[in-house]
Amino acid sequence: MERLKVLVTAALPYSYAPRHFGHLAGVYLPADVMARYMRLRGHETVFVSGTDENATSIVLEAMRRGMGPKELCDTYYPLQRSVFDQLGISFDIFSRTSSPIHYKVCEEFYRRLWEKGFVYPKKVLQLYCPKDEKSLPDRFVIGTCPKCGALDQYGEVCEACGSFYEAYELKEPRCSLCGSKPVLKESVHFFLKLSALTERVLDYVRPKVYWRKAAYNKTVSWLEEEGLRDKDITREYDWGPPAPFPGSEGQVLYNWVENLLGYISATKELSINLGNPRMYLEYWTDPNTKIYCFLGKDNLFFHTILFPAILIAHGDYTLPHNVVVSEFVGLMGRKISTSKGWVVWLHDLLKQYDPDVIRFYAIMIAPETKDTDFDWEDFREKVNNVLIATYGNFINRVMSLVVSRCGGVVPKPGKMDSQADRTLSYALSCGERVAESVENSEIRAGFLHVLNLAQEGNRYLSEARPWEGESDYKTVLYVLIQVVHALSVISYPYLPFTSARVRRMLNVDERPARWDEYRAQIPPGHNIGKPEILFRKIGEEEIKEKIRWMTKT
Ligand code: MF3
Ligand code: ZN
Repeated sequence: MERLKVLVTAALPYSYAPRHFGHLAGVYLPADVMARYMRLRGHETVFVSGTDENATSIVLEAMRRGMGPKELCDTYYPLQRSVFDQLGISFDIFSRTSSPIHYKVCEEFYRRLWEKGFVYPKKVLQLYCPKDEKSLPDRFVIGTCPKCGALDQYGEVCEACGSFYEAYELKEPRCSLCGSKPVLKESVHFFLKLSALTERVLDYVRPKVYWRKAAYNKTVSWLEEEGLRDKDITREYDWGPPAPFPGSEGQVLYNWVENLLGYISATKELSINLGNPRMYLEYWTDPNTKIYCFLGKDNLFFHTILFPAILIAHGDYTLPHNVVVSEFVGLMGRKISTSKGWVVWLHDLLKQYDPDVIRFYAIMIAPETKDTDFDWEDFREKVNNVLIATYGNFINRVMSLVVSRCGGVVPKPGKMDSQADRTLSYALSCGERVAESVENSEIRAGFLHVLNLAQEGNRYLSEARPWEGESDYKTVLYVLIQVVHALSVISYPYLPFTSARVRRMLNVDERPARWDEYRAQIPPGHNIGKPEILFRKIGEEEIKEKIRWMTKT
C-alpha cells in the first residue's frame, strides 16, 4: 500500500479553562482515533495541538483572578496536557502559541502576505476606555448585538445569533474591565484582503464534497451568498505575536489569524525536537500530505474559510484535505454552560472512571452529524450493556474457556462447519469495514463495526456452546480466539488501554505493529496469559448521586 504523509490537527484549547467532555467527544477523541489508525496503517503521521494563549479572553480571565496572563497560561498548560495524557490522546506534540517558534512563524508568514499585497493599512474607529486609558479590542467590550439585539455580547461575535461585527458596532457598549462607557477613537489598523480571495477559497472548497454535509454546505453558501469581507487583523494591545508591518508598532496580530498558524508552529517545534528542523516543511508543503483538521462547529468559519484563505495567500502551504467539524454535546438535555457550572469536566471524570470507559462513551455519543446529549443514565446503560455485556464479557468468557477447557493453549481446530467459517471470515475482514469508516472520518461508524464483531462472536459463542465440551469445542474456541485477537487490533485506535490489556492476556505484543494484523491468526499451540476482568460495572446509586449533585441548587 502507498505510504502517505498524514497530518492531524486538533483545535488548540484556550489556556484559561479546562476542557470538558463535549470537547473530547467532538474533537480530541476522533482526532486521536484518526492519528492512531493512520500510524498503524503505516502512514507517516504527525498529530499536533497545543494551547491557544493569545486571546483577549485569557487576559481578561487573568485580570479577574488577579494574575498576569503568562501566569494563567503557565497554570493551565500542564493541566490540559495531563488530562490529554491520561486519556491517551496521542499527540506527537502539544505546544503553546506563546512559544518563540510560533512568534517567528507568524512574523514570517504575515511579512510574506504584506509583500504579496494581501495586507494594507486603513483608518478604523476603535472603542477606547477613557478611565482605563486602553483601547478595547474584542472581548474587552460588552454590549448589545447589532444584528439580533441579544444582551451582553462581546465585541467580536454574537453567541446568540453567530454574526460577526466590529466592536464599535455594538449597541450600548461598555468596557468589560470597569463598565464605563467607551469613546470612539480613530487609529490605523491593518486589513487582510479577504475579498480578493473569495473565488480561490471557493475553488478549493467546492470539490470537497466528502466533507461533512453541514460544514460543506455552510461554507459554500457563505462564500457564494455573502463573499468575504476584508478583515481587521491587528489590535492595539501588548499580548501576543507583534504585527510585522511597516507602521504597526504597538500592535499585535488578531488572535484568530495567529492561532491557526499554531498548527504549523507546533509541527515546526516537533521537527526541531526530533533534530530534523525541515521536517515540518515536508508535511506542510508537500501537496500529497493529507491534512485532517478536527474542530467544533463554533470554529467552522476560521477553519473552512480563513485558514485556507491565508494559506492560499501565502502560496507555499498545503491546504487541509478534510476539515472535520463536529456538532455539540449537550448535558442532560440542556446546553453545556461552563459559567453556570453545567458541565462535565474531563479531570473530574478521570478521578472516577477508566480512560477507556470515558473514550468509549465519547465515541458512542460523538456529535458527528447532529447535536447529542451526555446523560448519566445513558452513560451507565451504555457502559454496562454495551461495553461490558457485549465487548468485555465476551473477551473474558472466551479467554476463561480456553484456560479451563484447553489448559490455556490455543487448540487445533477440527473441521470447520459453516458457522465457524462465517464467524472466522467475518473476523478476518472486519478491519476493512472499520478502515473505510475511519478514512471517511466516520469515526463512530468505525467503532460500531468493532462492536458488531464482538456481537457476532457472542452469537457464535452462545450457539456453539463450547463449554459443554462437545466434539467440536476446539474448533469453536480456535475461531473465538481469532475473534478476540482481531478485536484487540481494531479496538486499538478507540480503546488503546483495553487493547493493550487484551493483547497481554493473549500473550502477543502489547501493541499491534500493523493494522493488517487483525487478519493474522494466532496459531494452535500458542499459550495465552491469565484472563482478567476488563471493566467495572457502574451502579445505580453511583449515577443517582451524580444527578443529585448536578441538580442541587
Ligand atoms: N481556542 C479555540 C477554541 O477553543 C480554538 C482555536 S483553534 C486554532 O475555540 F487553530 F485556531 F487555534
Ligand atoms: Zn446577535
